[in-house]
Amino acid sequence: MTIPATSADATALLGVYARVGPLFVAGEGSELIAEDGTRYLDFVAGIAVNALGYNSPVIRDAVLRALDIGLIHVSNLYRTEPGERLAAELTKAFAGQAFFCNSGAEANEGAFKFARKWSKKTDIVAFSGSFHGRLFASLAATDRPDYRRPFEPLLTGVQIVPLGDVEAAQHAITADRTAAVIIEPVQGEGGVRPVPAEFLAFLRERSDACGCALIFDEVQCGLGRTGTLFASEQTGVTPDMYTLAKPLGGGLPMGAILVSDAIAAALAPGDHATTFGGGPFVATVSLDVVRTIAEPEFLAAVRAKGAWLGDRLRRLAATTARVREARGRGLMWGLELNEVAAPIVAVARERQLLVLTAGPNVMRIVPPLTVSREDLERGVTILAEVLA
Ligand SMILES: Cc1ncc(COP(=O)(O)O)c(C=O)c1O
Repeated sequence: MTIPATSADATALLGVYARVGPLFVAGEGSELIAEDGTRYLDFVAGIAVNALGYNSPVIRDAVLRALDIGLIHVSNLYRTEPGERLAAELTKAFAGQAFFCNSGAEANEGAFKFARKWSKKTDIVAFSGSFHGRLFASLAATDRPDYRRPFEPLLTGVQIVPLGDVEAAQHAITADRTAAVIIEPVQGEGGVRPVPAEFLAFLRERSDACGCALIFDEVQCGLGRTGTLFASEQTGVTPDMYTLAKPLGGGLPMGAILVSDAIAAALAPGDHATTFGGGPFVATVSLDVVRTIAEPEFLAAVRAKGAWLGDRLRRLAATTARVREARGRGLMWGLELNEVAAPIVAVARERQLLVLTAGPNVMRIVPPLTVSREDLERGVTILAEVLA
């Protein structure tokens, strides 16, 4: 690996990100490398994208093979093999059909359209703490009024109901209006909150009774992050649609909607489309990423490392007054603090540990799924020092 010389300048980039810290020029395993050669232990992983770590041999090989095929892009007007194989792989785990797009928000927007066409109804129910993306419908279903306000009016007919409140959900989800209910089985941006299985089971029952589509947004918690291919597997509840993105393309832009056979039957050519979705280059890489993650030994290793990490974080919470609670699944953890999390995240970065926030007082930890036990131990030691 060579570290390139840089002459970068951010002034021409639109200022919608509050970018911090050094200029990163390379990465290896669970580490990002800055231009001065300093190595940062990365428990952000591109916000739960880089599941296989940096400079992964799996992704390198897949990219080279994808180049050898000679097709970066072919229009979705024609058939190509990689997307068909990827759809077959994903639908081994969820009976139905796959639609490929380019991001998580796009996957959710598509899922809302599919729900409307199938149900012949219009409204959407989402939950407090939710994050579903930054486009006009996905933002309307996102419980961040500060993100929404400057861009209103957004999609109308979207209700945000308190998470876990059965009575409120019963009232909001109706047979005459509700097209879709969308929920993250483990909320990410909203503070790393695993949703109780009983609440998901209630939503399944209510959606069936009302003829609306239950969408599990597993953009962040899906594809091995919690130690099973889908986070919802651990709850025994199956949705009508899954939305996926983040790790799906191994770092290339890639999203997917997995659609039940019943909803797929309501969709016809022309109902939805995107130029780039599931093109042969990205689908070749994505297939290897999905196959790697879906290996039982890979998922068992995520569960084992996650159990170890969870145990250490809970101990940290029990012994540090600044931490209120540790919660999570697999390699997706949040430390709820008794104070604002951003300054602690900044101090951790000064000590070469990258973590991020999830709402105002939660510190989020989402390392590559390939992270070693030693790197986890190193990261927890730094966190303990920062919080001491
Ligand atoms: C659960 C969830 N859904 C949707 C999105 C939006 O994904 P994207 O940023 O790829 O549009 C995110 C992004 O953080 C997410 O965490």
